[in-house]
Amino acid sequence: MPTSRFAPLAFGVLVLALQPQAPGAVDFGKDIAPILQARCIECHGPEKQKAKLRLDTKADFFKGGKNGAIVKAGDPGASELCKRITLPKTDDDRMPPADGEPLTSQQIAAIGAWIAEGAHWPDGVTIQASTPKPSPASTPDTAASTPAAPARPSVPPPERPKDFKPSAAESTALAVIGKNGVEIRPVAQGVPWKEVNLRLLGTNVTDQLIAPLKDITSLVEVRLGTTRITDAGLAALETLPHLEVLGLELTLVTDAGVARLKGLPSLVSLNLYGTAVTDAALDHLRGLKHLRNLYLWQTKVTPEGVKKLQAALPGLDINTGAELAAPAPSTNAPAPAVKKEEPKK
Ligand code: HEC
Repeated sequence: MPTSRFAPLAFGVLVLALQPQAPGAVDFGKDIAPILQARCIECHGPEKQKAKLRLDTKADFFKGGKNGAIVKAGDPGASELCKRITLPKTDDDRMPPADGEPLTSQQIAAIGAWIAEGAHWPDGVTIQASTPKPSPASTPDTAASTPAAPARPSVPPPERPKDFKPSAAESTALAVIGKNGVEIRPVAQGVPWKEVNLRLLGTNVTDQLIAPLKDITSLVEVRLGTTRITDAGLAALETLPHLEVLGLELTLVTDAGVARLKGLPSLVSLNLYGTAVTDAALDHLRGLKHLRNLYLWQTKVTPEGVKKLQAALPGLDINTGAELAAPAPSTNAPAPAVKKEEPKK
């Protein structure tokens, strides 16, 4: 199998660069299983085994595919799995293949960190075949008639209008912010939707720099973690109609900043890790009906605050880091993507 195209060094750098988002150990059930379930199992699971590879059980995963093992525990650089997910989008060998979106850099970093930490897969945990995947462009499937008592009700994905046309103000804003060295990229070829990752510019990013973002209504992903933005700067984001993913980790953002987010109709994922937010911030999030992931490690929220928000948004996965710190008892209910294997025989 060809391995020459993969640069282990680049992969290591990527993992390091993203580490502030993954403090402590990677949790298989929370961090890895959902990725495999959503992006791999349809072709490497109970129904199909492309390249003779199954990724849904521990034994099959470590057995590998037609070319043998795909993971070398402790060494992401030597793992075929990491090579496949980091290949350029145009490469035939990339996973998921051509017409699927590549994994996000965060997902790639999580898998890399998991392998680097020894690729620990708890015994008896299997990944369930994925339910039909929520396509962001499709109408949310509201009338699912089977309340099969899942751990968490599913959250309908926001809709991205098919006829979206960027405004003239958007082109102007793109030009202005581009001059300041900020690269705003389409999330995929041939779509108007855009993403921007300002983590890379770090402390050079100020409220003033991001002000033009308010006119870029095609933005679906904005990463501001570790930058110098403050509550006031979030005024640039508070009316973005299609913003789905927002990273504010390790910034000076407080409850007042989170108050500005309560009108974001499409927000799916919000990272507030390492900020000074309190329970008051959570009250501002109660009306966000598409919110599916909330990261609150190392904040001032209390278990009561979390409980209240969870009651208002039962489908929301709230990650407070408690799960990461506690020595996970194996009898605990695993994350929704995984289930305990029935003892065979
Ligand atoms: C749409 C179907 C599809 C999806 C989704 C998919 N794969 Fe694949 N995968 C394939 C096919 C087809 C092959 C064989 C062709 C090849 O080697 O490129 C393959 C081969 C592989 C191989 C090489 C196995 C071997 O022994 O040669 C690995 C590793 C792999 N996939 C990992 C993944 C991972 C990880 C994901 C999820 C991130 C994933 N795949 C998602 C279709 C898929």
